[in-house]
Amino acid sequence: MSAVAERPILTVGIVGPGKVGSALGRLALAAGHRVVYLGSERQVDLQLLLDIVVPGATEATTAEDLAAQADIVLLTLPFSKSGTVRYEAFDGRIVVDTMNYWSPIDGTIDEIEADGRGSSEIIADRNPRARWVKSLNHLGYHDMEADTLPAGAPGRRAVAAASDDDGAKRVVLDFVDSLGFDPVDAGSLADGRLLQTGEAVFGRELDRATFEESLGLLSRSA
Ligand SMILES: NC(=O)c1ccc[n+]([C@@H]2O[C@H](COP(=O)([O-])OP(=O)(O)OC[C@H]3O[C@@H](n4cnc5c(N)ncnc54)[C@H](OP(=O)(O)O)[C@@H]3O)[C@@H](O)[C@H]2O)c1
Repeated sequence: MSAVAERPILTVGIVGPGKVGSALGRLALAAGHRVVYLGSERQVDLQLLLDIVVPGATEATTAEDLAAQADIVLLTLPFSKSGTVRYEAFDGRIVVDTMNYWSPIDGTIDEIEADGRGSSEIIADRNPRARWVKSLNHLGYHDMEADTLPAGAPGRRAVAAASDDDGAKRVVLDFVDSLGFDPVDAGSLADGRLLQTGEAVFGRELDRATFEESLGLLSRSA
């Protein structure tokens, strides 16, 4: 991690160069961060795709290579394919779960349906040594680049982060701010259930005050 002015410049590792991954990569590059991608086994000519879709981004060869370069890792692959990631490579890394489990897209996964926990808590079990944060899952990829505004602009869209690791959450909230969103601390990883599909803030363009009110944060801290 290096710093220019007050904003740290991060190397952002992105696992899954699809719709969400490419939108977030372009936003991160525009904010001055470095971006490196890990693709699926199918994506053999990834650098060629990146040169067109996310110019300025580079390709990592393995999960270990990505982890060695990245200050934060974003998981932007389908939940149904989440079992194909080598999570053991992410020991000690800040890993941001942007994935949503949504049965119309992912199919019904009985063990997820039966598990009372949030989807990020379930994913976090894959590597308890990683520093897990749930964020950037509650806005559509098509809104990501359209909805950014500079800090202080009226009506700036809120994006939340939830984690049990306060230090990791702080890094991710600063990253969210750098992309052009108002950061909201949404509590613990278990609290992150309120960011999931079907919840009050999911898919809604809300400013910070309305977002926090919808999460019940204002009444909790009052
Ligand atoms: N779409 C949205 O608006 C939106 C918004 C917020 C969050 N999300 C969540 O974000 C995630 C990604 O959604 P998306 O719409 O961007 O999906 P997508 O367009 O299908 O992109 C997913 C990408 O991940 C790749 N991938 C699959 N397995 C991989 C692996 N093991 N390692 C590296 N890359 C892998 C896929 O490659 P292959 O095609 O070769 O499998 C594809 O390039 C989902 O969990 C979704 O719920 C979506």
